[in-house]
Amino acid sequence: MQTLLLNSDSIEKAAFIINQGGLVVFPTETVYGLGADVFNPEAVKKIFLAKGRPQDNPLIAHIYDKSQVQLLARELPRGTEILMEAFWPGPLTIVLPKNSFVPDIVSAGLDTVGVRLPSHKTALAFLKACNTPIAAPSANISTKPSPTNFSMARKAMEGRVEAIIDGGESDKGLESTVVAWTETNEYCGWTILRPGAVTREDLFSVLDTLFVQNQHTKDEKLLARSPGTRHPHYRPQAEVLLFAYSNDLERGAELLTKNWAIIGLDSEQNLAQKATITRLYPNWIDLARRLYADFSELDSLCVPGILVQAPTETTGIAEALLNRLLKASQEKWL
Ligand code: TXA
Ligand code: MG
Repeated sequence: MQTLLLNSDSIEKAAFIINQGGLVVFPTETVYGLGADVFNPEAVKKIFLAKGRPQDNPLIAHIYDKSQVQLLARELPRGTEILMEAFWPGPLTIVLPKNSFVPDIVSAGLDTVGVRLPSHKTALAFLKACNTPIAAPSANISTKPSPTNFSMARKAMEGRVEAIIDGGESDKGLESTVVAWTETNEYCGWTILRPGAVTREDLFSVLDTLFVQNQHTKDEKLLARSPGTRHPHYRPQAEVLLFAYSNDLERGAELLTKNWAIIGLDSEQNLAQKATITRLYPNWIDLARRLYADFSELDSLCVPGILVQAPTETTGIAEALLNRLLKASQEKWL
């Protein structure tokens, strides 16, 4: 398939493709998405084929205006409006009870739909031009890291979709925080299904703490309702091993002689001297922003493995970063 490469001046063309039942890759502030008209089940089906994605994994519906929630949700659980007000537009997906117009293929047969209003300017212009909510997973081949820039999006999806819109580099670099309203015998409240750039502390700051789970969830029953949390994810070609402190690298001396790369923080740790290929950042936010792009670049350099520094704290963005790193490494530490 011929893939059109578009920029923010050709949004109308991208919207036309969507309205004809085609697929368009578009930028967001988290990662690039692979979009189709939410209300066109044939188009949505093509998303799963293009990605090689298991059909039991539901898709997020993207909107450009809060009023569009009414097109998707049958009711808004307690606190939904507070969340929308505080974090939209932005990297928060809110899982809501779905109405009967949302096709089963979007929700993977669940009774809910994840909804997100992104903040990326080009994403908003595209969503507005489409004039229908857009179902979109991250625009990677299933299990691979999500694209966070145009060249990664091309590498993953050129030839598989009708168009790709260039929106530069994604600012956050990790997928959105996913929250769901949950009622069980033990508690009722908002649960973090996937940590992201809207942090647990951010959520606590606007919601009554009683109604936010303290940890992102390990409850198997809940996770069964968010299948994406079970599937393998975010893995580059290279092997990934985690380390916490520069001293730990002594155990990796042999690997480092075999052309392994290091991704980490450059604050007084002399990591730059420990390997020939390094990607070093002043803080976790910058490391998170570049992580998937680094994975992709290091894969092009054919490095056999990557030692990645992982945060030991779980506050702020560190919680989301650690979550992705544990998946990328299959929980393997140096
Ligand atoms: O930042 C993002 O969220 C990006 C951009 C494109 O918006 N999208 C993204 O989509 O990461 P995806 O499909 O790669 O990840 C969506 C996650 C999966 O873990 C999925 O299982 C979960 O959200 N999810 C989606 N709908 C859900 C629902 N109705 N109930 C529970 N979990 C849901
Ligand atoms: Mg994904």
